[in-house]
Amino acid sequence: MRVIVCNDYDEMSKRAAKIVASQITLKPNCVLGLATGSTPIGLYDNLAEMNKLGEIDFSDVTTFNLDEYYPINLDNDQSYHYFMNEHLFTRVNIDINSTHLPNGQTDDPETECENYEKMINDAGGIDLQILGIGQNGHIGFNEPDNNLNTVTHLTGLTQSTIEANSRFFEKKEDVPTRALTMGIASILKSRKIVLLASGRTKYKVVSELLNEGINTSVPATMLKVHPDVVLICDKEAYASMYLGVDIGGTSIKFGVVDGFNNIVYKDSLPTQKDKPARAIIDNIAKACKDITSRFPVTAVGVGTPGIIDFAKKTVTAANLPFDNTPIFDWLKESINLPVYINNDANCAALGEAVAGEGAGEKDMLMITLGTGIGGGIIIDKKIYMGAKGDAGEIGHMCIETNGKPCSCGNRGCWEKYASVSALIEQTEEAVLKNPNSILANVIAKNHVVDGKTVFEAKQKGCTVADAVFEQYIEYLAVGIRNIINIFRPGAVVIAGGISEAGQALLDPLVKKVDSSVPIKISRLQNDAGIIGAALLGEKNR
Ligand code: PGA
Repeated sequence: MRVIVCNDYDEMSKRAAKIVASQITLKPNCVLGLATGSTPIGLYDNLAEMNKLGEIDFSDVTTFNLDEYYPINLDNDQSYHYFMNEHLFTRVNIDINSTHLPNGQTDDPETECENYEKMINDAGGIDLQILGIGQNGHIGFNEPDNNLNTVTHLTGLTQSTIEANSRFFEKKEDVPTRALTMGIASILKSRKIVLLASGRTKYKVVSELLNEGINTSVPATMLKVHPDVVLICDKEAYASMYLGVDIGGTSIKFGVVDGFNNIVYKDSLPTQKDKPARAIIDNIAKACKDITSRFPVTAVGVGTPGIIDFAKKTVTAANLPFDNTPIFDWLKESINLPVYINNDANCAALGEAVAGEGAGEKDMLMITLGTGIGGGIIIDKKIYMGAKGDAGEIGHMCIETNGKPCSCGNRGCWEKYASVSALIEQTEEAVLKNPNSILANVIAKNHVVDGKTVFEAKQKGCTVADAVFEQYIEYLAVGIRNIINIFRPGAVVIAGGISEAGQALLDPLVKKVDSSVPIKISRLQNDAGIIGAALLGEKNR
């Protein structure tokens, strides 16, 4: 089965319409098998439009529909006769006598089914069959059962189908409980089959279809024996999952992320950074193999600290034993799936841009305040990499010429003033000068200075802490104003431990930056890195 994943319902409908149009162009007197339900409506809209524009001609086309409720009057607006007239037959130049549906008004369903099957055969069989898929895996009204009927037959509908179809009726009791439907063999006799699936409600069944073997409890799996089936679905219905790995100094986090950017499974391992690089990577590969054997994962994305040399495919990270380490090749040796790598701050930015605070914006900048300042630039929902893949080092923009020396070799880098390490340094300097302050008492009580100390002392009314904080916010704001001026993103998102301070950090910062660009606190926090790494596995990221 070939699978085409489209961005949305419209694209899916257009792709399907092109296939039907090609069929009609190649064989103007072809026999089409048609389906009802909400899924093919867009396809029929496209066909009607193409017919109106003179691109396709239905005058010699014959059609057979898959099914019809039983019993039902043909003029009932819920009958499939009515549906087909409304959505296609009255909108194109087809001869209505060449269109066929099982007769839901018949007194003799058995003969009706026999005749219907014979008519299909007499017409030379179906050239191209369009199918939808029920949430329970039915095609036509071939419901899950121990035995599937091969030819056109009268069948009962399962509770789940009645439930799903009740959305078209006033009351659930109005949904017919039986139907006349082509059988599995009637469908499989078609020369070509296009199966359509759209939307979240089809996600589970598409996953079953793609990942399970042939079985009668998901009747659509029968299509796997047919040599020419194409599944055209939109992203919402496509069940790909990606594994995201976020390598940190203390722990390595793993998450299986579904097509809706939800983490459906999470795990973590201690990094053990005193071990050699090979041992760390082997641990990661082992965990990846275990997880990918349990979930339908199609790619693995890894976020790593440090500098990635994309040409040589190596990583060098200061706080891990990675020194031109071929992480990429080592992982690929044992993971039998595509593997993608990017910088951890970039991954976090991508995760937040797609599934967090940046979800509504095309462009977003993420600033991770930690030991240094990590940056991720997202343009058009993609990581901006620069010419060599190392763009986004916003922590190293200079905000003070001849300022403090930085490990990068320059002076006055932003992270020397606005990272959490810088805030801690500023707090310590203030305490040395003001040993009797509330700030000093807080430190004495907690036995530690960290990113939270200033906030705690401020809450207790400490004016020394107020001054430290005011200065820190000034540094932070200067950098944010700079990057806003360069990029004018849809949003700037702040992440890292200090962002847990929430409004106590955000309100004064927003005031100080004084820009129309919204500044927000990361919604996904630690999960941003996992989701972003997993998203590397998606095409075009
Ligand atoms: P739907 O139905 O297109 O309305 O989702 C498909 C089906 O039940 O086959």
